[in-house]
Amino acid sequence: MSNIKLDIKNVYGCVTRPEIMGLQEEVSANLEMLKKGSGEGNDFLGWLRLPSSITEAELTAVEKTAERLRDRSDIVIVIGIGGSYLGAKAVNDALSDSFEMLKKERKNPMMIFAGHHISEDYMQELTAMLDQYNYAIVVISKSGTTTEPAIAFRILKEHLEKKVGSEEAVSRIVAITDATKGALRKLAEQEGYETYVIPDDVGGRFSVLTPVGLVPLAVSGFNIRQLVQGGADMEKACLNNADLNTNPAALYAATRNALYRKGKKIEILVNYQVKLHYVAEWWKQLYGESEGKDGKGIFPAAVDNSSDLHSMGQYIQEGERILFETVISIKENDHTVKIPSDDKNLDGLNYLAGKKIDEVNKMAELGTALAHIDGEVPNMRIEIPRLDAYNVGQLMYFFELACGISGYMLGVNPFNQPGVEAYKKNMFALLEKPGFEKETEKIRKRL
Ligand code: PA5
Repeated sequence: MSNIKLDIKNVYGCVTRPEIMGLQEEVSANLEMLKKGSGEGNDFLGWLRLPSSITEAELTAVEKTAERLRDRSDIVIVIGIGGSYLGAKAVNDALSDSFEMLKKERKNPMMIFAGHHISEDYMQELTAMLDQYNYAIVVISKSGTTTEPAIAFRILKEHLEKKVGSEEAVSRIVAITDATKGALRKLAEQEGYETYVIPDDVGGRFSVLTPVGLVPLAVSGFNIRQLVQGGADMEKACLNNADLNTNPAALYAATRNALYRKGKKIEILVNYQVKLHYVAEWWKQLYGESEGKDGKGIFPAAVDNSSDLHSMGQYIQEGERILFETVISIKENDHTVKIPSDDKNLDGLNYLAGKKIDEVNKMAELGTALAHIDGEVPNMRIEIPRLDAYNVGQLMYFFELACGISGYMLGVNPFNQPGVEAYKKNMFALLEKPGFEKETEKIRKRL
C-alpha cells in the first residue's frame, strides 16, 4: 500500500483536472514502456523491480559487513559523488537526530562524506580530525574512475594505513563498484578489500537501495530492512497500476508535465522539516540529471521552509511566474514541544501558549501555500505519515518511478547523463591527463 498522499487540487488554477486526467493514455504508455524495457535507456532499468528483488541473503551480508566496521570505528567515511553519495546522505540526514554528532555516548558510527567535491581545506581538516578517531572507509564509485572520490580515497587510504597499519586498514575498507571494470575494482582486488557490486543496470541516481546506499546506512545503524520494505511496498502499489486516480507516482509525473507544458519550467521541492534538505538534494540530482537534456527539462530547485520564506520567499511570491511547487509534508512528528505560557507576555506570544510547535509549522505551510497560489505558483502536496526508514523508502521509490515516467513524457532518455562529460573533458585537458594531449593543446588556445 502507498503511504503517500498526493494532493494536486492547488494546481487547478493553472491546469485543470480534466487536462491532467487527459494525460492518462500517455502515462500508461510510458509506464508500459518502462516495464517492458522498450524505451531509450532500457539497459538501466534494474532499479524498477529492485526493492522487491533484494534477497534475505543480500541484506544479511550487508548487515554482517556493517557489524565488522561498526566494531572498529566511531566514524564511517563514505567516499563517493553524485549518485554514489546523495542517497545515503539523504537517508542519513532525514533519519538522524539533529545533534547526533554532539552526543557524548553515541551508539552508531557517524557518517561523514568525502570525495563529493574537491576542496583542499575540507580534506586537510578531515584528516586532522581523523587523527583523533577510529574510522572505517566505504568507497563507492560505479565507474571506478571518477576523479573526486579517487583523490579522496588515495589520501584517506594512506592516512588509515599509517594510522592502523596496512593489515588492519584492509579490514576497515569496503569498496562498492562495478563487478569487473574500473580502477577501483582492480585496486580493491589487489589490496584484498571486501567488495560489493553495483548492478550494471542501475545508474548512480537510482542506486540508493543497492549496496551504494545500504552498506553505509547499515554501518551507521539505520534500519535498512524497513527502508527496502518501504520501497518494495511502493513498487507493489505503483508499478503495475497506471491509473492516475490511484497511482500517486503516475499522477505526480502527469501533473508536473502538464504544468511544464503551460510554461512552468521550474519545480521547487519545498520542505518544512530541515531534515529533508538532503532528500531534496537527492531529488534534484535524480530529476536534473534524468530530465535536463536535449534543450528540455523542468529545472529542479528546492527550499527549506520556513527559513527560505525569509529569503527565496520573495521571489516565489512575486518573481517570474515560471515556478511551481511540490511540498513534502510530514503528518506526525517524533517529538512534542509545546509553546509555554508567560505571565508577562512581553513577546505577545501567549495566543500560541499550549500549542505544539508543529501546529505553527503546519499553519506556516498552509498560509504559504495559499499565498503562493494567489501569486500564481501552482502547488502540489505530498504527505507522508512520518519521517522513518519505511516512509523514506516509499518516498524514494515514488520519486524514482515518477522520474522514469516523467522523463519519457518529456521525450528524453531519463537514464543517461551525456552532459556531465563536458566538464570532465576540459578538466582532464587542463590537468594534462595522459590521453588528452590534443584537448590540452586546443583548450590552451582558448585561455
Ligand atoms: O547518477 C549518476 O550516474 C552520477 O551522478 C554518478 O553517480 C556520479 O557521477 C558518480 O559516478 P561513479 O559512481 O561512477 O563514481
